[in-house]
Amino acid sequence: MRRAEPAVSPDLSLIPLWSGWLEREGIAIDAALDRILPPASLAPKRLHRALRYAVFPGGKRVRPAMAVLGYRSAGGRGKVAADLGAAIELIHTFSLIHDDLPCMDDDDFRRGRLSTHRKFGEAIAVLAGDALQVLAFEVMSTLPVSAELRLDVLHEITAAVGTFGVIGGQVDDLESEGKKISEALLRRMHARKTAALLRASLVSGAILNGVEAAHRAELARFGDEFGLLFQVVDDILNEVGSYAALGRRRGGDRAKGKATYPSILGAAKSRDRLRGLVQSSRRSIPARRRGVVTPDLYEGLVQTVVGRLPVDWSGPALA
Ligand code: IPE
Ligand code: IPE
Ligand code: MG
Ligand code: MG
Repeated sequence: MRRAEPAVSPDLSLIPLWSGWLEREGIAIDAALDRILPPASLAPKRLHRALRYAVFPGGKRVRPAMAVLGYRSAGGRGKVAADLGAAIELIHTFSLIHDDLPCMDDDDFRRGRLSTHRKFGEAIAVLAGDALQVLAFEVMSTLPVSAELRLDVLHEITAAVGTFGVIGGQVDDLESEGKKISEALLRRMHARKTAALLRASLVSGAILNGVEAAHRAELARFGDEFGLLFQVVDDILNEVGSYAALGRRRGGDRAKGKATYPSILGAAKSRDRLRGLVQSSRRSIPARRRGVVTPDLYEGLVQTVVGRLPVDWSGPALA
């Protein structure tokens, strides 16, 4: 039977702007990752192989791209933000390796292939996560900018990863399993486990070029709204996404009793919150233009993320 046409088609017109930009900037990001990671031929080889397995070919590279976006929006021209972006991607990868472990989400697959612990064993996966995080801080501590800016970057990122950021959010996530938590707690959990690092990616990139306070605050505002939107999309995708969009079978969150937007609020309110977060993200897009960084580029990022959803979800949200 033919599928009914969606009532509203999503506005996906600016996705090529984001993907073209990411393709150009992504070359330097991937080159930085390759340079930073130890060669798999060096001992301990199994660990180094695991690091590279988790990082390459990788996922959407949203966080490093946002770091470079922040840097360019603050007028940065060189390649230094690619190294910062790479460091942030290492932190993100550490969080994913640990997120998939049996003691956490117990996921056998990520990005369409075996998760790191299923490929290399749990002990190596734990240590690979540890190693990626330490390596990221080593890279950030040697970024070729003034010590003052470097410290500011380090502070921004540590705050986003720590107990009030990714790690604290992951604890909220685990402790909420099987519970009907409030929407306020759900929002806080998403803000910490996901939005904090996305915001810090954008802001730390801008810090690297000595951003002024007003623009920094604008970037932080967009990062917060977009970060929440990102995790709400991830929650919905887990229920309705295709294998290709998810990289694993759908339904894992529901099976584990995870607190997500669909499980706590139901489909209708999740649609409403999704649409609300698209609007608040759009409203907080910084207006200033710097070279290729225009409001359209941020809009392209929003469309790229929401456009991963099936059209019956993305249509009303992006109309
Ligand atoms: C997945 O992040 C984990 C969340 C915080 C939702 P991404 O969706 O950015 O994962 P990759 O890196 O593109 O695979
Ligand atoms: C991951 O959240 C958030 C992290 C900080 C790693 P999820 O558990 O919802 O992400 P996926 O769906 O497994 O990527
Ligand atoms: Mg999780
Ligand atoms: Mg997970």
